Amino acid sequence: KIIPVILSGGSGSRLWPVSREYYAKQCLPLVDANFSLLQNTVLRTESFAFSSPIVVCNESHRFLIAQQLQDIGVVQASILLEPEGRNTAPAIALAALEAQHKGLDDALLLVLPADHVIRDVSAFEKAIQQASDLTASNGLVTFGVQPTRAETGYGYIRSGADFAVAEFVEKPDETTAQSYLDSGDYLWNSGMFLFKAKAYLSELATYRRDISEAVKVAYQGRSEDMDFVRIDAAAFAACPEMSIDYAVMEPTKNAKVVPYAGDWSDIGTWDALYDYADKDAEQNVLLGDVMAENTNNCLVRAESRLVAAVGVDNLVIVETADAVLVMNKNNAQDVKKVVKRLKEEG
Ligand code: GDD
Ligand code: MG
Repeated sequence: KIIPVILSGGSGSRLWPVSREYYAKQCLPLVDANFSLLQNTVLRTESFAFSSPIVVCNESHRFLIAQQLQDIGVVQASILLEPEGRNTAPAIALAALEAQHKGLDDALLLVLPADHVIRDVSAFEKAIQQASDLTASNGLVTFGVQPTRAETGYGYIRSGADFAVAEFVEKPDETTAQSYLDSGDYLWNSGMFLFKAKAYLSELATYRRDISEAVKVAYQGRSEDMDFVRIDAAAFAACPEMSIDYAVMEPTKNAKVVPYAGDWSDIGTWDALYDYADKDAEQNVLLGDVMAENTNNCLVRAESRLVAAVGVDNLVIVETADAVLVMNKNNAQDVKKVVKRLKEEG
């Protein structure tokens, strides 16, 4: 019995101006013209999910998310609303308590970030099948991806005998990441997890009793509001902010890792979207009403007007009704700075 748990907390500020605070990136049809990243994440679980998903999100995204679930025929999802994000350890604990509350204590929670792109559904299904066999002894299973660069934004896993995790290191520094890559002994943590609700809650209580207690109080103080489950704001605000990777996956002795060989991508920036998309003969990705002359290696996206690019190279140009981004593709991380300034300057 597998219940999908969809983490939909972020808003994707590096994909501004298309993603906005209230129109988060996981709700956008970024890669697939028909479905958003969130919808694709839910659809990917349909062949094996035992019940509708548990979605954990910020309360400001609730109507959009409910609508998007309805649009793909998902009507009985539990939508847990966080007044403010406390990172993934508390978010997943809320989902685990919700599963227990529904009498699904022994069911397996398949934790999925709402913003990953996976096209190879059969490799995904196979890995999940393999992982479910490892949850019998209360294992916390992660899915390991072959690393291709010394990325410092990911977790690293060294596997031991029988799929056991020998070492889990979240976000190592550059030198360490490089040595892990060179050793060939480490996998990236994909950020997807499979475990029993009670197995996760018991490990969380062992290593971070403060988080586990705070989440319990916040969940007990919940109120049901139409289809939404609203978490008690004051109690949740008192919960320490921490990711599952630091709170549980690093210290636990019950971690297991299943290799995942299918495609997997976290479309967090415009250059990542460019890399992922199909390109034309000039290595451009042109989306919408766009004309390009003597233009190479660009991503140009038009939403409401015709956009023409002439004689430019390696640019990202994103047009929306009220904002236009023109950026060197190498500076994709810096869009965040614009969003930050917009918030500050109003
Ligand atoms: N509901 C909710 N509430 N969701 C959240 C919250 C929160 O407070 N914080 C983050 N999320 C969601 C994000 O929207 C994303 O879908 C997912 O949880 C993971 O959070 P990130 O903030 O993107 O984590 P990360 O990318 O730094 O690191 C994680 O993912 C990497 C792979 O993409 C870790 O698990 C790493 O170990 C892993 O390598
Ligand atoms: Mg991420």
